[in-house]
Amino acid sequence: MKLLSLAAAILAALICGNVSAQPQAYNIIPEPASLVPAKGSFKAAGAAVNCDPSIDAATLDLIRKFATRLSLVSGRNSSMATPVGIEQTLANSSVKGFLFLNDPSLADEEYSIDVTPKNVTVKASSYNGFSYAIATLKQLLPAEIYIAKAGTAKMTIPCCSIKDRPRFGYRGVELDCARHFFGVGQVKRFLDVIAMYKVNRFHWHLTDDQGWRVEIKKYPLLTEIGAFRSGTQSTYDRRQNDGIRYGGYYTQDQIKEVVEYAGKLGITVIPELDLPGHMLGAMAAYPWLGCTGGPYEVWTKWGVSDQVLCVGKETTFGFLFDVLDEMCELFPGEYFHIGGDECPKKAWEQCPVCQAKIAELGLTDGDGATKEQRLQNYVTKRVQDYLSLKGKKIIGWDEVLEGELAEGATVMSWRGTKGGIKASGMGFDVIMSPTDYCYLDYKQGEDDRQNTIGAGYARTKFYDAKNLYGFEPLEGLDEKSASHILGVQGNMWTEFIRNNHEVDYMLIPRLFALSEVQWSPKESRNYDRFVEKARAHFKIMDILGYDYKPL
Ligand code: ACM
Ligand code: ZN
Repeated sequence: MKLLSLAAAILAALICGNVSAQPQAYNIIPEPASLVPAKGSFKAAGAAVNCDPSIDAATLDLIRKFATRLSLVSGRNSSMATPVGIEQTLANSSVKGFLFLNDPSLADEEYSIDVTPKNVTVKASSYNGFSYAIATLKQLLPAEIYIAKAGTAKMTIPCCSIKDRPRFGYRGVELDCARHFFGVGQVKRFLDVIAMYKVNRFHWHLTDDQGWRVEIKKYPLLTEIGAFRSGTQSTYDRRQNDGIRYGGYYTQDQIKEVVEYAGKLGITVIPELDLPGHMLGAMAAYPWLGCTGGPYEVWTKWGVSDQVLCVGKETTFGFLFDVLDEMCELFPGEYFHIGGDECPKKAWEQCPVCQAKIAELGLTDGDGATKEQRLQNYVTKRVQDYLSLKGKKIIGWDEVLEGELAEGATVMSWRGTKGGIKASGMGFDVIMSPTDYCYLDYKQGEDDRQNTIGAGYARTKFYDAKNLYGFEPLEGLDEKSASHILGVQGNMWTEFIRNNHEVDYMLIPRLFALSEVQWSPKESRNYDRFVEKARAHFKIMDILGYDYKPL
């Protein structure tokens, strides 16, 4: 709670006598920008749901779903007033029930909720604003609101006044569907839970050394060959391999289905085509993409491969542009992630074609970068230029900063925050996603019941919810640099994370902590209070069937 709202709460308590703050009743995650508790409660069961006629059809659909759910779990009908009825409803000062009102003075993701014993007034100006308001309303209701079957639950909402908006505009979570493949249903289930915590970007890691997961019609072998590996390193021994064929991919229709589904949850999907390293999936299918010409295999082990795209050849760019043509049709968002991480330069040093390209471009060592690093800058720039013709901006992992990065790129800082601090100081937009806090595949504790999972297995530090909760994305930044921090992302790499249960366990409750870092004002963060709220949310997770690591 902000100091101001805290003061208002105390004042309200003094005026109204013995108002109890009932903190257990306001278990909202992420913590709203401002919440002023009040006395009494609103009886939601059977309350009418009135909507401003200027609310668009998609938003009305969201509200209708909420009304339907409320009716179902309470056993009493919360009917939607026809939109045209609202003027009379509003004119009638004795109006009771829910009032959903368009308020153009509110920013895109902003909303307010005022709960009195008589009515609940919800204001927003956009689909996402109303969607977040409904997410908050559900958290104010008893956990039974999440039960998808008929009941007679007592549905009340504690009185309060909430004014809420996000601290950061970019609030992302990444899921690696290359190392392990998660089907459309699993991805939707993942989207459902991140949306509950007001995450608005899904970074979909679709290609890597261990598998290519997106259908590209012009290059059918990418999925016929590149989507399957002959086995998997299932222990920490890099020589070990379970010998079981593994793979899968998304058809273009399935990708469109996921993108549309995410859109309804207020989430933009950002695809990642990781290049010029992490490309063995593609190179196994089309060996001419590599410096040696192959043969290559879809990798069965974890780590960083020395085999990367041969970027001295024009044919490689022809391939990349063709793939981008098809992928850009599938993903309407403004950002495209081009990877750029962990690209060893050994193959380029030994490749006559890449060396000839370096000579042709006049690239040299010096100023803190090798000529091969500058060759990667050339790749980044060509892909960036191609995507900009399609109206897309690129995001790259912080390695793209080595050498020279062209204006307009956004840097995703993963090797700590130093890359992000440097990039923002240079005027680049930045998304903070440092391993030390935001890697959701890293071990959460010694007692981790799944201590065989997580790429951070070799580390001795633990990366639990408390650690993530303590992350301050703007630390060490002056005001100008801070203005370039678009937001924060959590990353779920899946080398050792194989199924829903393992994803859930690694995600929750770190997702809860992440959401407060992404959304809530810095001064409202309070870990002890967070733990109380998280425990209440575990009940919701139980109802919805998500696994979690208990606190
Ligand atoms: C990364 O974790 N290689 C971005
Ligand atoms: Zn080469």
